Amino acid sequence: MEFTGKRVLVTGSSRGIGQAAAKVFLDAGARVAINGRSEASSQAGVEALGGGDDLVAATGDVSTITGCKAIVAVAAEALGGLDILVNSAGVGDFVPFGETGEALWDDTIDVNLKGTFFACQAALPHLRTSKGNIVNVASDAGLIGEIGLSAYCASKGGVVVLTKALALELAPDIRVNCVCPGYVDTDMVRRDGIDKADDPVAAEQALIDSAPLKRIAKPREIGRAIAYLASDDAVFVTGEALSIDGGTTSGRG
Ligand SMILES: NC(=O)c1ccc[n+]([C@@H]2O[C@H](COP(=O)([O-])OP(=O)(O)OC[C@H]3O[C@@H](n4cnc5c(N)ncnc54)[C@H](O)[C@@H]3O)[C@@H](O)[C@H]2O)c1
Repeated sequence: MEFTGKRVLVTGSSRGIGQAAAKVFLDAGARVAINGRSEASSQAGVEALGGGDDLVAATGDVSTITGCKAIVAVAAEALGGLDILVNSAGVGDFVPFGETGEALWDDTIDVNLKGTFFACQAALPHLRTSKGNIVNVASDAGLIGEIGLSAYCASKGGVVVLTKALALELAPDIRVNCVCPGYVDTDMVRRDGIDKADDPVAAEQALIDSAPLKRIAKPREIGRAIAYLASDDAVFVTGEALSIDGGTTSGRG
């Protein structure tokens, strides 16, 4: 894939899937804005990717409209415009439905759904000018239900249909797609999930067994799928929710 000269903003790229996507774009010639909630996390993301002139920091919190506007403004100013927006910032906690309180609901919806919505809106003038495109990071949990993830499922289901609504409304100038990963080996799954379980080995095996292809995805695999959707190879693809889940959402065996 070829992204020479392309200007890319990836939210939530201080680590995880966002950082893996940023590396794919960077290695293919793009200039990339790295977003974390704090200056320190944005800078850590820039440094993890080797620093240099093709990386800029665009710090801010996507859970507020002010934050989304600030992130996009800094990225567009530093890069001289914007061709591609990737919305990867996200949170997810396993909590039973009956114990899910207002704070968890608000945080999950505000970061995952509201943040995606208003980052797209903030980037709109730049993407109209460049005839660029958007890739949202949804989830397999946006396509099927998952026990203990009701707020997360609601947020990611919202991202999937938001993607389709924007694909219609912003066509023909701006393409809008999303990826729907299954379990991916990032902090969200390992540090905050597997490692905190009473039996981490069993917890990891359960995640492995949940996918017909019997493993957890690597962040780079999702990053490459994001880059595909953002690339000219996908020039006739819009409104797509691309599953990268080892078959998890294919149906019953
Ligand atoms: N890891 C998985 O199994 C998996 C599966 C499907 C979808 N996803 C989605 O992929 C995306 C990336 O997750 P990850 O696995 O890389 O997790 P991660 O926890 O490693 O990274 C999440 C990133 O989002 C950032 N972030 C969180 N809240 C933010 C906010 N308010 N403002 C700005 N940045 C914020 C974090 O700083 C971090 O950079 C998320 O949207 C997540 O829901 C992850």
